[in-house]
Amino acid sequence: MNIKFYQVFLVIYTILNIATFVLYGIDKKRAREEKWRIPEAVLLKSAFYGGAFGAGIGMLFFHHKTRKKEFQVKVPLFICLHIFLIIFCTWSNNHLVVTKYDLGKDSGVAGDFRIVQVSDLHNTYLWWQKGYVADMVAEQKPDMIVITGDMIDSRTTDKKTSIDTAKRLTSIADTYYVTGNHEERFSDEYLEEFFAELKEAGVRVLEDEYILVGEGDEEFALIGIRDKSLERMELPLKELIREAQKEAGSDIPTVVLSHEPQLIKTYAEADADLVLTGHAHGGQIRLPIIGGLVAPDQGLFPKYTSGLYTSGNTKMIVSRGVGNSAAPIRVFNDPEIVVVDL
Ligand SMILES: [Fe+2]
Repeated sequence: MNIKFYQVFLVIYTILNIATFVLYGIDKKRAREEKWRIPEAVLLKSAFYGGAFGAGIGMLFFHHKTRKKEFQVKVPLFICLHIFLIIFCTWSNNHLVVTKYDLGKDSGVAGDFRIVQVSDLHNTYLWWQKGYVADMVAEQKPDMIVITGDMIDSRTTDKKTSIDTAKRLTSIADTYYVTGNHEERFSDEYLEEFFAELKEAGVRVLEDEYILVGEGDEEFALIGIRDKSLERMELPLKELIREAQKEAGSDIPTVVLSHEPQLIKTYAEADADLVLTGHAHGGQIRLPIIGGLVAPDQGLFPKYTSGLYTSGNTKMIVSRGVGNSAAPIRVFNDPEIVVVDL
């Protein structure tokens, strides 16, 4: 069964509210019977920690605490706070934005070439608008679309949204894909099936390989690294760059698709020109000045969560991605698609 975060939230939130409603009913009954009462602080805390609606309905239904000033003020306040938080978190998680990077001559690629990057979809369905991600990608009129891993989520076997999105993306432009850590957690059989569905949708799956794109001084090498290779520290990047240079000349610009940004030094050692990554989900909660709060493989206050970074001759773009995984909430951290103009 594929359980989504909002379903879990709805169940827990409903239970908390029913429990709080019952608590108010019990306290009213005990007040009538002049028995030991539930402390008012407990009733208010149960309202604050998730049961605000249950408390409000309980007050009205049982005519309980309705003349108590503290309850008259705090319970409606908690209801407003809960409504605000639910709307804010829903908006934060679904407010997809476009971030543009114009590398121009710095890219080493002559002419204009636009890459749109979609990262960390995690099979996310932006529920109010079907196909929203693909629609926004189409608006950018890309020459190429790249998907940098975690298209599906290892906590569920559901891949429908990902495959639907892939089909839409390939109708817009040539689409290339590398795995993220989530795909690599699945069995070989499942992954084979997923790759087959992606290929059927028209996506080119890059498994530690390169292709040459464009011609003449507009040519560049697109290199895709599987996340499995990063995890096993068998990064074949140097070798792939060498092979591409051998085929297309030593000055061929290289654009690398690789899921994980914390390996920036490794990318720089291989002398990659541009690396497109994701994985960090923007650090989940973004604070002013500090930036992201937490990211996989980087821990607290991660360094590489969003934006353009440089190490040696290597530029690395980290996409905040589209979806979420184990940490289900984004705060001040809009999901994004990335546009790179070479
Ligand atoms: Fe991810």
